[in-house]
Amino acid sequence: MARRKKRKVKKEDENSGSSISDGDGIIVLKDLTKKFSDNVVLDNISLTVEKGKTTVIIGPSGCGKTVLIKHLILLLRPSSGEVYFKGRRIDNMNEIELNKIRIRFGFLFQGGALFDSLSVADNITFPIRQHFKIKHWNQYDELVKNKLSMVGLEGFQSFYPSNLSGGQRKRVALARAIALNPEVILYDEPTTGLDPIRSDVINELILKLQRELGVTSVVVTHDMTSAYKIADRIIMLHNGKIIADGDDKHIRNHPHPVVQQFIHGQVNEDDLAVLRASGTIFQTQFLPDDFEE
Ligand SMILES: Nc1ncnc2c1ncn2[C@@H]1O[C@H](COP(=O)(O)OP(=O)(O)O)[C@@H](O)[C@H]1O
Ligand SMILES: [Mg+2]
Repeated sequence: MARRKKRKVKKEDENSGSSISDGDGIIVLKDLTKKFSDNVVLDNISLTVEKGKTTVIIGPSGCGKTVLIKHLILLLRPSSGEVYFKGRRIDNMNEIELNKIRIRFGFLFQGGALFDSLSVADNITFPIRQHFKIKHWNQYDELVKNKLSMVGLEGFQSFYPSNLSGGQRKRVALARAIALNPEVILYDEPTTGLDPIRSDVINELILKLQRELGVTSVVVTHDMTSAYKIADRIIMLHNGKIIADGDDKHIRNHPHPVVQQFIHGQVNEDDLAVLRASGTIFQTQFLPDDFEE
């Protein structure tokens, strides 16, 4: 068994030109720096995302959380440093190669990004129709039914996004994110703009997907209630660096004053984010077209 594994690694090495031994890490960032002209947003960050766990990234608005999560699937390219998925280096891949990696991810980015002109069912099957040909229509029906039941929206197939509440739209976006049975789900501010009860429904769904499907989750948030509830591990970004990294207890007791200020002052951040949302949603939302070859 061990011998076979060794051979496989060697083969990947030969094919891609670069691989690392990743241990339990499904995604590895190595010495990653991202600059936008003179603005250093991520400053030599190294991070191993553990398989099957929920890693939460926190930090104030503008600290680089979205920039970081986009690097995990190369929606942004690093200024320097490396990104690995399952031991294979991916930051030097072209878009065609990357799309083969990206279909193993689900995304729930800000705004939900549902297509208003498509029904719930068509929104959910959108990524599948883009990547695969399904011969039998009833396969779609089964899949839609299954994904809707995962997010607690049985019977909503023929609804349109305009008939749904904010929380329901997020759940449909989540059903779409899991349409291709992803190994990793990336969430960017999944609870922003939702009231506490609707936020908690999303938290429960994130937990459920991790428990029932064994997915690896990376969640960007500045909602500490959500972070404490769902995280196996919380990472705080500040001035381009990771200043705290550990479980909820570690973060709650962290001696760094910036960490304490953030975790206790998060209500203000949340309110600000809701106010800002109308202006920023379009820039940060993910559209499936981004992946078209
Ligand atoms: N495409 C871009 N071009 C230039 N600057 C950007 C771009 N995307 C993000 N930034 C800058 O990077 C910083 C971090 O942004 P972002 O990751 O969106 O923060 P947040 O932590 O709120 O998600 C901000 O200063 C932002 O202005
Ligand atoms: Mg953001």
